[in-house]
Amino acid sequence: MAVIGTDILATKKLLEAGKVVGIPTETVYGLAGNALNDDAVLQIFKVKNRPQFDPLIVHTNSLKKIKSFVMDFPQKAQQLAEAFWPGPLTLLLPKAETISDLVTSGLGTVAVRIPNHILTLELLSELDFPLAAPSANPFGYISPTSAQHVDKQLGKKIPYILDGGSSQVGIESTIVGFEEDETVVYRLGGVSVEAIENVVGAVRLVAHSSSNPKAPGMLKSHYSPRKPFFISSLKEVLKDHSPQKVGYLTFQKVSKLVPIEHQRILSLSGSYTEAAKHLFAFMRQLDALEVEVICTELLPEKELGRAINDRIRRAAVRE
Ligand code: TXA
Ligand code: MG
Repeated sequence: MAVIGTDILATKKLLEAGKVVGIPTETVYGLAGNALNDDAVLQIFKVKNRPQFDPLIVHTNSLKKIKSFVMDFPQKAQQLAEAFWPGPLTLLLPKAETISDLVTSGLGTVAVRIPNHILTLELLSELDFPLAAPSANPFGYISPTSAQHVDKQLGKKIPYILDGGSSQVGIESTIVGFEEDETVVYRLGGVSVEAIENVVGAVRLVAHSSSNPKAPGMLKSHYSPRKPFFISSLKEVLKDHSPQKVGYLTFQKVSKLVPIEHQRILSLSGSYTEAAKHLFAFMRQLDALEVEVICTELLPEKELGRAINDRIRRAAVRE
């Protein structure tokens, strides 16, 4: 198992030696390696069992550093960076020579982000290279929001996990790019579309699709628990399963139809940010119960409710 700790210097040394480690961010935990070292980048794909056509996000701690990895930083990117960095926003920008094709899977753009986590910002400020980091889950499974989640699934394959507590946002960053004059959202995430539109005006949303080369990681079936995960009313699911065998993920309300210990309520007060923070941990908890199926409902389609619904829909797909 990996060592779990808060030793920034030890983490730095491992990264400098080309190793891959778990790091906390405000969205989800990342599986990080030196983005300028191809061997480290290859290890990330290997540890995650991730196909190499799915590019990685490059993380660092300052706008100045980011500008050395990209060819152009348009005005809208500047406005969004000022509004949301450090924070749960990833920008797609034309890549500079320094970023290898391995990181971007051969695309001409690189995904960049300044995460908002005190330990990771300190680590990044100590490093003279950026960190490539996908979410630290095996490909296709739910993203980790604690060091323990990372340890459980990848602990045997990595030497160290920097423990920054539970992720405060809880869902991945919003991915934004620019096409001619348009601002395009490729993945819904921790910054709501409404908040982005307040800064740069109307955006275009690109539907997720595994055949869309602009957003290769946006595979439809993703973030999935192992148990069948249905978007359905409880009543419907209870036609085929006994109440003892059903897990229930709900936004605000407890149900009388299944045992209370099989239920997870995302936010009793109806807060989208609280719901986002709990989402993945609750999915994992329900997945670990002795149930046959997990049943869930969608949230209202606004603010972070949209990003949460996106994750729920993709987790629920069974092809
Ligand atoms: O919140 C987050 O973004 C977390 C934390 C660790 O920063 N990271 C994360 O990484 O979610 P990952 O690899 O699980 O998801 C990144 C997504 C992938 O689906 C990938 O396809 C997309 O970003 N991506 C990366 N570079 C891209 C590029 N150049 N063009 C289009 N999509 C890109
Ligand atoms: Mg991921």
